[in-house]
This record gives sequence, structure tokens and C-alpha cells, in this order.
Amino acid sequence: MRLLFIGDIVGKPGRDMVRKGVRGLVEEHGIDLVIANVENSAAGFGVTKDIGDTLLEWGVDVMTSGNHIWDKKEVLHYIPTQPRLLRPANYPAGVPGRGSYVAQTRDGRPVGVINVMGRVFMLNIDDPFAVVLKEIEAVRARARVIVVDFHAEATSEKVAMGWHLDGKVTLVVGTHTHVQTADERILPNGTAYLTDAGMTGPHDSIIGMERQPSLARFLNGMPSRFEPATGNPRLNGVVVEADDQTGRATAVTRISHSEAELLAL
Ligand SMILES: [Fe+2]
Ligand SMILES: [Fe+2]
Repeated sequence: MRLLFIGDIVGKPGRDMVRKGVRGLVEEHGIDLVIANVENSAAGFGVTKDIGDTLLEWGVDVMTSGNHIWDKKEVLHYIPTQPRLLRPANYPAGVPGRGSYVAQTRDGRPVGVINVMGRVFMLNIDDPFAVVLKEIEAVRARARVIVVDFHAEATSEKVAMGWHLDGKVTLVVGTHTHVQTADERILPNGTAYLTDAGMTGPHDSIIGMERQPSLARFLNGMPSRFEPATGNPRLNGVVVEADDQTGRATAVTRISHSEAELLAL
């Protein structure tokens, strides 16, 4: 089977790219299931019920997230009712929502999706390396093909997670930095790996936000209000081909498309 993973969707420009591009990408690559990180889909900060449900209508099957998942307060009511919206599994016990989901392709084949978050230069929550093994154990009885979105800042922590899970899952893909890396590969035991899927949103920006306020914070150290940028939207992500029986990845292709490229599909 073939899976499409879409990197962090930022604001309306990012959502527009999903609306315009997902159907074409699904057809072009023969995609069976679409996963997208939606932590920035509501004006750069969090996700709402309206936006989440709309992304699902447009062809996203499972939504992952990260540190921004709580930015819109209404998500506290949405996440308990929407099993297809994940938050990192390694938040402490008692936090609303779930960190994994077993989805079905249109023809009924199961795909496990797991979301965990790194701790280097981030919130010091539970150990993602231990928690992810427990989640894999729980999912594996129902799905051989498993995707892990590792939402993390440090390249070292992400690469470590790739090796930690080599042979245990189909794809380990990083999110959170909003800058796509070019290190896609299949590790020796059959796990496809990419340090960061990149950002689906405005690329004439500072990781999705308007350049001036973001730059000003670096120039003068004072707080400033960030708004999503609009220029040069791109859809970033990765396509992985997997063996249904073994769960091993057989091909991995990084994608980064402009709006014109998506519309031409
Ligand atoms: Fe993000
Ligand atoms: Fe993030």
C-alpha cells in the first residue's frame, strides 16, 4: 500500500494547499491513506472542530499534532470526540485525547498511526522512546503497517528515534521544524525515515509566520504578535510504499509542491 504524510499545515494558506492538492496527489501516487500534521492549521496555532472536520472531508484520513495542539481552547471538547485527531502519546496520564489510532484504507486494510513528541529543547514530558514502544505493541495486533510522527526539535533526537524503531514500524517521519530535510531513506531493517516532512503553508515566511514580527523578535528581543504569512505556499510531505504483510517500507519519496504544480497533477 501507499501512504501520504503531509507536513505541518499552517493556517489558511496551508489548508488551501490541502484542498487543492490532496485529491491529485492521491491519484498521482495511488495513495491508500493520507495522514497530516494539523497542529498549526488554525491561523498557525492549534486546530478547531470546523477546521479538523473540513480537513477530513478534503481527504485527510488521520490528523497528528504536537506542542501547538492545545492553542485553541475548543480542542479540549473536540479531541475526546474525534479519534482521528491525535496528540503526542507521551503527554502524562490524564491528558485528553489519544496518541494512536488504527485507520482503515478504503478497501479495509489497517494502518496504525502513532504520534509522539521529543523532549530536547521542548516540554519535558514522558519519555517518547519508551512510550512509543508501548503504543507500537498495542497497535501491532491490529496493523502491520505503522506510521510514527515524531514531533521534535533536535535532529539528533529524531535520528535516534529512527534507529530505535528500525524494523518495528513502516515510517518514522519528523515534524515541528517546518523545514523539510533531504535525508529520506529506508533503514536496514525496513523502516522508512525522514527527519522532517517540512511545512504545508507559506514558505516566504519564518517557519510559516510573517517575517517582520518574527525577525523583530530576533533583532530586539521584545515580544511580538505572530500572524501566518501568505506568500509562496507549498505542500510538503512524504510518500511511502509498504509491504502489507510485513509492514516493511519498499520505497520512500519526499515531496514538495507549489500550488501550480499541485493544480497540474
Ligand atoms: Fe508545527
Ligand atoms: Fe510543533
